[in-house]
Amino acid sequence: MALMYHSMDAVDETPSFQAKSFFDSAPVLKDADSISNKITQFIHQNSLPGSEGPRRVVCVTSGGTTVPLEQRCVRYIDNFSSGHRGATSTEYFLKSGYSVIFLYRRGTFQPYCRSLPDDPLLECFKLTNDSSIQVVESHAEAVKSAISGHHDAVSRGYLLKLPFITIFEYLQILRLIATSMKILGPNAMFYLAAAVSDFYVPWESMAVHKIQSASGPLDMRLAQAPKMLSVLRKEWAPTAFCVSFKLETDTGILLEKAATALKKYKMHVVVANELSTRKEVVILVTESGKVSVHRENDQSDVESPLIKLLVEKHSTYIMDVNA
Ligand code: PMT
Repeated sequence: MALMYHSMDAVDETPSFQAKSFFDSAPVLKDADSISNKITQFIHQNSLPGSEGPRRVVCVTSGGTTVPLEQRCVRYIDNFSSGHRGATSTEYFLKSGYSVIFLYRRGTFQPYCRSLPDDPLLECFKLTNDSSIQVVESHAEAVKSAISGHHDAVSRGYLLKLPFITIFEYLQILRLIATSMKILGPNAMFYLAAAVSDFYVPWESMAVHKIQSASGPLDMRLAQAPKMLSVLRKEWAPTAFCVSFKLETDTGILLEKAATALKKYKMHVVVANELSTRKEVVILVTESGKVSVHRENDQSDVESPLIKLLVEKHSTYIMDVNA
């Protein structure tokens, strides 16, 4: 089956109008009330002046969104992202004293679980003679640190994990999070590492049932997904510190595209990365210039110096806003 994709001609509409049209026509978000309650409660808990004072909260988005081709979905278009960046960054933000709302694509990498094998349940555990379950020695350290790291963050109320699959779910949950985080003012940060579809099939023009192949090649028109970055900055959480990502496979255009995104969407930082070297080096693009951030060695994470630098920039931002 051949799929042909065309973007729609650019329409002269404001980002907030495009966002409104997107949300008005999106399928209803399942469990919206329960998700909303979890977010409100999490933000409330983390904004209370405790012994450590109100905590900074970062929303980390992670993994790729899907674009369904049928309402009763059999086929979909996917955006590449393993979720490694988001999961690793979440661990470093927690280590730096932030609370994290981790908005992730179901099935992608999870915080504290990066060192586990592909099939943790079957590879990390074994049955003993008396049919009780035991951890396989070679994976014992990885299992212990996954359980303790995760349990510590969740039980202390510092980590809230919310899954998405489609672009409709992702953007609706992101809006719920952002509008709730507005009350945190400059203490809020957005770290938008998710790979979000640029094109989608509007719900009302989507086939209900499985598209049939008998009628030959498929010619499909995709609408342009609204970029929510400017709406997030202007309306949802105008005083939050915003970091977005720019991924390219052609290094020749990467920095220029990142600089354009910085200006166009009024981001505080754009993290530029190239697909094949994304785990080794990223470039921070800000109004005051560009900084390359490298991992220290093959065993370390580039997210360690990256989050350190972003935390410093966020601190300066908070001081400036409160001055
Ligand atoms: O998960 P890994 O395998 O570790 O890989 C990490 C990563 C390469 C996916 C990550 O580091 C990264 O670069 N993520 C952003 C990839 C991307 O989709 O870039 P973009 O140029 O399409 O989008 C730029 C920004 O606009 C993103 O912050 C995105 O959240 C936002 N966006 C994109 C499309 C859209 N319709 N609305 C948006 O708001």
